[in-house]
Amino acid sequence: MNDIRPVPRGIDPTVPSVARMYDFYLGGKDNYASDREAAAQVVETSSRMGNDIRVAARQNRAFLGRAIRAVAEAGVRQFIDIGAGLPTQENVHEVALRAAPDSHVVYVDNDPIVLVHARALLADHPSTRVVEGDVRDPAGVLDHPDVAREIDFSRPVAVVLCAILQFIPDDAEVSSILATVRERLVPGSHLVISHPFAGERPDEQFDSVNDVYTRTPSGSFTIRDSKAIQEFFTGTEPLEPGLVPVRSWRDGPPPDFTVPCYLGGVGRVI
Ligand SMILES: C[S@@+](CC[C@H](N)C(=O)[O-])C[C@H]1O[C@@H](n2cnc3c(N)ncnc32)[C@H](O)[C@@H]1O
Repeated sequence: MNDIRPVPRGIDPTVPSVARMYDFYLGGKDNYASDREAAAQVVETSSRMGNDIRVAARQNRAFLGRAIRAVAEAGVRQFIDIGAGLPTQENVHEVALRAAPDSHVVYVDNDPIVLVHARALLADHPSTRVVEGDVRDPAGVLDHPDVAREIDFSRPVAVVLCAILQFIPDDAEVSSILATVRERLVPGSHLVISHPFAGERPDEQFDSVNDVYTRTPSGSFTIRDSKAIQEFFTGTEPLEPGLVPVRSWRDGPPPDFTVPCYLGGVGRVI
């Protein structure tokens, strides 16, 4: 594929980006040669391990849609999607607004290309916003003036952290981020989390994936076991069926914890 479209200002097409690689996995067109080359290496490794990342990414998006619908059906009308990614199909605002037209949605990402595309998509969309923010500064995200304009923290909020926490290598830092988020959420709020999981493969087999992601601004890729991912739901009670391979969350085959995949779950803040 040739890159003949103009490159938006502030974007470096020569350095692979996590958001654009993920767009490639999903079959999107908002990616450049550097992204496709890096993504091809992850596709190759993941295929060797028995779960092609392109399939896993689609399963992750489908989980996200089902989870947002479930949370909207539970009465939540406010959504903050952190590490939102490039717009694709069934974005959070589309699912949420279909389930509940009075929903408010804020997308947060630290990749300039996501901000450019999301703002273009949502230009005329009331009750949705796009905010530049870094999950490693959760207070900065939650206190952002545009978040305050859209979200009323005295009412339940769903915070979505799908396929982003693997870019933070330190478990303690993830726990601290989640503690800051939970502190701001009233009971009845929800956390929607998905995260790459090694199945029965030794973590070292994912070192080559980490090598690819060290070339991106996100800097690393950390695979985690289900116990570590479960910890991220501290302070919440699980919506059925708990933390499972995403394709088995209220859909699909019985959970198979032996193969690499994304694990996903939804926790209700208590
Ligand atoms: C793999 S994509 C996941 C997209 C979407 N959440 C999903 O699950 O389909 C990860 C996204 O997180 C963003 N991201 C990575 N590190 C981030 C950080 N420190 N702060 C905010 N966003 C980040 C990337 O730019 C990318 O858009």
